[in-house]
Amino acid sequence: MVNDSTNYDTMFGKIALDQGLCTNEELKRCIDEIDNRSQTSPALLRDLLVERGYLTKSQASRVISTIKEARGSTATHQIPGYMILGKLGAGAMAVVYKARQLSLDRIVAVKVLPKRFSENKEYVERFYKEGKAAGKLNHPNIVQAVDVGESGGHHYFVMEYVEGKTLYDDLAAGKVYGEREALDVIIQVAEALRHAHSVGLIHRDVKPKNIMINKEGIVKLADMGLARQTTDFEAAKMEKGKAYGTPYYISPEQIRGEIDVDGRADIYGLGATFYHLVTGRVPFMADDPMEVMRKHLKDELIPPDHINTSLSAGVSEIIEVMMAKDKKNRYNSIEELLVDLKAVRDGGSPMRAHKRMSVSELEKLEDGEVVEESENVDLAQSVTRYKTTVLILGAMAGFLLLIVLLLLFRK
Ligand SMILES: Nc1ncnc2c1ncn2[C@@H]1O[C@H](COP(=O)(O)OP(=O)(O)O)[C@@H](O)[C@H]1O
Ligand SMILES: [Mg+2]
Repeated sequence: MVNDSTNYDTMFGKIALDQGLCTNEELKRCIDEIDNRSQTSPALLRDLLVERGYLTKSQASRVISTIKEARGSTATHQIPGYMILGKLGAGAMAVVYKARQLSLDRIVAVKVLPKRFSENKEYVERFYKEGKAAGKLNHPNIVQAVDVGESGGHHYFVMEYVEGKTLYDDLAAGKVYGEREALDVIIQVAEALRHAHSVGLIHRDVKPKNIMINKEGIVKLADMGLARQTTDFEAAKMEKGKAYGTPYYISPEQIRGEIDVDGRADIYGLGATFYHLVTGRVPFMADDPMEVMRKHLKDELIPPDHINTSLSAGVSEIIEVMMAKDKKNRYNSIEELLVDLKAVRDGGSPMRAHKRMSVSELEKLEDGEVVEESENVDLAQSVTRYKTTVLILGAMAGFLLLIVLLLLFRK
């Protein structure tokens, strides 16, 4: 028969393991010892773990308070079916916990909304949309949705637990990514986005905090948080004029509150993330979020290879095209972007970026006049040819003038 202290010990051991405080080996050693001496002098697992030096006293009391919280005595919130094990992080609108899903006996991440947000109908609706949108997706580079619900006034979203780090953690520690490593990460996120876009979902919040790397080095895109059916114009109109998202990576069209935001907004966000990885800087920096957004709209981007001179021209060009202010000048689709990313990774050059760059150069020359895309490329070539001709003619005229002058002076 299982008595209460055995139950307690099992729970204590599991939580100490889940929280990474002791190893499986250490735990097993203590459990064996308890089993052997239980008849003579019963001991609690927690005391033995401390006695053996596997846990410190304060670690043990942390486990105890986790158990108390889970049992409801001091719980801030409880979710039936899950045991909250500790906090993983907090964002602008939610707190994310590590938890054990009791039914399937596995570790998951639970995103919980603070109670005050539950009163905001619009936000709660978006929260449920996040769950449903993510639930439609299944891809190795996307954080898998598990469950969504409400308990005690708290709305929650359960997802695959990613053991590892976010790109933001690396950047905050001052890491600048090498070109190869950055390409490897960006290609995986692009694959995730290709899948989402293929079922009509746009992420709308691609940023280093939403990109995680697990222990095996697999990249996982988190938070299809602001994702929405591309065709959902009603929701789009409701959001008109509101700029959701983080200003450092947000696209100009989202800042303007445009209602027909499409996959190219994600290409911009991914481009801004790529820029940050390889230069160590956000593309547009200012103290005030409004000023950051103004810069996204108006300021010219400093080419990434001007900041990090070891960067190849190919990668720099790809980033510039991804971050074109006018979405017409970006890659048309994630597929198109992936072709260039893989070409550069394999030592080639980004052909599609070349094409797009000449198109946007031409648009600048033409002062914003809109021309058909295929004509654009032809025109771009004619302009280059025209420039070359003018240069050659100029040089020839100069040369002739020099000869005439020489002849005159000799007389
Ligand atoms: N599925 C997950 N697995 C592990 N940790 C996560 C997971 N989702 C989020 N986190 C952590 O929780 C933090 C807060 O997430 P979130 O509320 O989405 O805000 P933000 O994305 O703005 O940081 C993240 O920065 C990350 O460190
Ligand atoms: Mg997030």
